[in-house]
Amino acid sequence: MEDTYVLATQKRSRSDDVNGGDTAKKLAAAQGTADPAAALASARHEFGEHGGVNMSIEASATFTVMEPETMRRMFTGELGPDRDFFIYSRHFNPTVLNLSRMMAALEGTEAAYCTASGMSAISAVLLQLCSHGGHVVASRALYGGTHALLSHFLPRTCGISTSFVEVSDLDMVEAAIVEGKTKVLYFESVSNPTLYVANIPELCRVAHRKGVTVVVDNTFAPMVLSPARLGADVVVHSISKFISGGADIIAGAVCGPASLVNSMMDLQQGAIMLLGPTMNAKVAFELSERIPHLGLRMKEHCKRALVFARRLKSLGLKVIYPGLEEHPHHELLKSMHNKEYGYGGLLCIDMETEEKANRLMNHLQNHAQFGFMAVSLGYYETLMSCSGSSTSSELSPEEKALVGISPGLVRMSVGYIGTLEQKWAQLEKALSRLN
Ligand SMILES: Cc1ncc(COP(=O)(O)O)c(C=O)c1O
Repeated sequence: MEDTYVLATQKRSRSDDVNGGDTAKKLAAAQGTADPAAALASARHEFGEHGGVNMSIEASATFTVMEPETMRRMFTGELGPDRDFFIYSRHFNPTVLNLSRMMAALEGTEAAYCTASGMSAISAVLLQLCSHGGHVVASRALYGGTHALLSHFLPRTCGISTSFVEVSDLDMVEAAIVEGKTKVLYFESVSNPTLYVANIPELCRVAHRKGVTVVVDNTFAPMVLSPARLGADVVVHSISKFISGGADIIAGAVCGPASLVNSMMDLQQGAIMLLGPTMNAKVAFELSERIPHLGLRMKEHCKRALVFARRLKSLGLKVIYPGLEEHPHHELLKSMHNKEYGYGGLLCIDMETEEKANRLMNHLQNHAQFGFMAVSLGYYETLMSCSGSSTSSELSPEEKALVGISPGLVRMSVGYIGTLEQKWAQLEKALSRLN
């Protein structure tokens, strides 16, 4: 023990999980806290090495010990990050672990760990939960990359097969589960790009009755929805989107039970440890500075998305936004969301043909300065893309038709730069030029 006392000026308290003792207790309390901002504020604040208000960056790939025996004990798992013993940053890194604690507080899970991208978080957790020959039941309406992972990559490389279902049809979900073989039920809380809202509590009930682990991608709705507080076992994120907010970082996270996070770091069997989608400590620090204002940003994204959706609808456009009363999942979202954060920062306009969609986006970017033609979401500028030919291009034409991705569907991540009325005037101008 002496060696770590010398090495670590900011001693952590000891506990039996990766979140640290006092944090584990606070997190347990935070799980009962409905508001993710309140949970974040009750999580432990990390100070810097010299008393700085911000945590220090542990920019080390490797960590030294004072006694050779300590190294052996770390490798047997007897001494770990819960007691401030670190081996190597592809395993736990203190700064990444601090960011991960914030992610656990945000999502109300016992633990979390951050990864190099959203896709690596998704693939690592699926590989951890499913062995060769395993089976996944997944929503049909998924981000194109996740859809490709499940329909092409995992069957070819690992013999992991997926049955795609309509998750609003609980009977269909139940019928697709093969008891003993199905390991995971996978869906997005709010789907990309169709903005379907999943009935998280009911889907969890169906899965849990059959011993299936529920993994929810909450990339589209951080703060707005808290899937783990609604019963999900694991929440994954593409941090690259709203949580980062800067469109400058690619990152991801797996939030779930400490036993899962620890298993992903196992030296013999851990998907993060052995596949190595590691987050850099400097990136973790940058992100830790952004999470405290995620709630404020989400409120503004959501507020503007709702105003624009209502006004676009009144102009006669075909708008898809779960905050609109006629959206088929509006009442469901109302029953699940964290009230202060609204209904999400994305809306879709169905222009029916790709040609019309492209003309609209061209006017919006190049004549009205309303936003940028770009994939991704959660940026302060509005980002727009035609999903069918971009982020959902991995789906076949039949699969796109089945989930309602029309060739002219324009997905808009509504930004908060400028004033609302300034941006609305630009949007109106582009629409009038189109006509
Ligand atoms: C819903 C969703 N999940 C996961 C991902 C993948 O995340 P990343 O680009 O960070 O790997 C994306 C987007 O790219 C996404 O939209």
